[in-house]
Amino acid sequence: MDSLGQALEEIHDRIHEEADWGLPAQYIPELANVVPEQFAISVVTADGSCHSVGQAQRPFSIQSISKVFALIATLGRIGDQLWTRVGREPTRTAFDSIMLLETDSGRPPNPFVNAGAIVTTDALLSGREPRQALAEILGLIRAMAGTDDIYINNEVADSEKRTGARNKALAHYLASHGNLRNDPDLTLGTYFHQCAIEMTTEQLAMSGRVLAGLECAPRTISRMHAKRANALMMTCGHYDASGEFAFKVGLPGKSGVGGGILLIAPRKASIAIWSPGLNGYGNSHAGTRAAAMLARSTGWSVF
Ligand code: DON
Repeated sequence: MDSLGQALEEIHDRIHEEADWGLPAQYIPELANVVPEQFAISVVTADGSCHSVGQAQRPFSIQSISKVFALIATLGRIGDQLWTRVGREPTRTAFDSIMLLETDSGRPPNPFVNAGAIVTTDALLSGREPRQALAEILGLIRAMAGTDDIYINNEVADSEKRTGARNKALAHYLASHGNLRNDPDLTLGTYFHQCAIEMTTEQLAMSGRVLAGLECAPRTISRMHAKRANALMMTCGHYDASGEFAFKVGLPGKSGVGGGILLIAPRKASIAIWSPGLNGYGNSHAGTRAAAMLARSTGWSVF
């Protein structure tokens, strides 16, 4: 076995030995039932090969990782106009916090906290039907991953819609500041469906190739947008744990409450990790530790 394959096997064994999984997202009923003792990593390297360990072919809910793809789609459509409505600064508040919306007159701090993602999706939706905006996000993901076998799980979307009081509050608060262009419930419905996209770690790692600037990647997005998405993943991708993630891992990453992490090692690899139990920040508990182990054993870092 080559050294990357061996490193992945060691990480897989250590994560199972530690057996410290955390709990799946409790506020989305469909996700609360997922068995926490699950783990997968897939790594696509510059030569185009994909190495995996664990349940790398099991689709999971990508949740907030979808915000990276929605951001790229929105930048492709309206470019820098987005920044009049959303900032680019990290926060010390939780991903679903409303606090900064009050102090900043309804302008969310960045496109990865929920409020910022709702505004981004609202911008992508403008002038179109939700199914058209969703088709654009899904189409982009499929092109980036190189497969059409990626779908939205409607039960997860409906489950979040039923219980999403916090996101409804955020959307209506944004609307009260004039920062939504569509009916808040229409924007939210689109946002919940985007979050309910399911992918395997193999598909997610493949989809990150263009962000990693790998030679084998299809040219679906501009270099500038890829660079900016990476910068925001580095500074804001793990919310109020982004500093800690940068300190321990040293690579741009984006987490989701489904337990996934997309990790980019520029010009080296695109990595996807999944373990559905979460830490106190709503990021994958075992997945975050696995990311640090992988960065250490490969030496991959942007620093
Ligand atoms: O809006 C929500 O709360 C979820 N659909 C997504 C949040 C999320 O994934 C946070 N990430 N770790």
